[in-house]
Amino acid sequence: MLILGKVVSADTRAEIKKEVARFEEKYGRKPCLAVIIVGEDPASQTYVRNKIAGCAETGMRSLHYEYADGTPQSEIEKTLVDLAADETVDGILVQLPLPKGYDERKLLSLIPDEKDVDGFSPTNLGLLAMNRPRTISCTPFGVMKMLETTGVDLKGKNAVVIGRSNTVGKPMAMLLLNADCTVTVCHSKTKNLAEIASKADVLIAAIGKPKFVTTDMVKDGAIVIDVGINRVDGKLVGDVDFENVEKKASFITPVPGGVGPMTITMLLANTLQAAKAKLKA
Ligand code: GUN
Repeated sequence: MLILGKVVSADTRAEIKKEVARFEEKYGRKPCLAVIIVGEDPASQTYVRNKIAGCAETGMRSLHYEYADGTPQSEIEKTLVDLAADETVDGILVQLPLPKGYDERKLLSLIPDEKDVDGFSPTNLGLLAMNRPRTISCTPFGVMKMLETTGVDLKGKNAVVIGRSNTVGKPMAMLLLNADCTVTVCHSKTKNLAEIASKADVLIAAIGKPKFVTTDMVKDGAIVIDVGINRVDGKLVGDVDFENVEKKASFITPVPGGVGPMTITMLLANTLQAAKAKLKA
């Protein structure tokens, strides 16, 4: 069966929109997200456009800062310091990846933990590791919401995450562990990856290689979540060989229309939550 992120996403956004309206009525201002992009990477520009559009759709305010590649780091730092101090700004994000030459760690360190709606800060990632989550990285957070819609009890299930990035693989593994799964994380140096993956009740593919997950890596009846967004000949393709794996999986997410739409929705949810937390709403 398909897990359609675009459907779950639309339902969640409708809820967010209602809560945003309540927030504005109570506090006389809208929750506000500031988005910073450096350079002209087309995929990043599309993501940022969709984030801004998501704010408009749910009734939130957004601030959009676009810097050309080559803008001095100090100029972007100044903007981040100002946004950090601005009481009316609830969430701040710097779109990644940054062009070469920028100090990503320094820039991200200027975002206060309370405004880190990407959930990328060491504190937010650490709180998740301790099962005291505050802001959860948007993509893994969206995956958990999609898993919830299956109605399957995750307790004691074997979960395998392929990919160990700080933004997806690691937080994903921690969320599944917090949900009482037995979690294995595989990566490019893993031996017997196919064998490990084929034991998974829940298989998360976050590798960034088109059609990497083939049927031999999938257990009959597994839940397969495809986080991959790869462009092949102008088409979006996931990390899973969907046409064949679909026949084996109990639930599977398509690409496009699966995890992708959930990511921005969870960013909007995180921004609303940050606004409410600040005002104890
Ligand atoms: N680039 C790709 N995904 C993301 C994301 O979730 N947040 C940010 N800031 N940059 C990204």
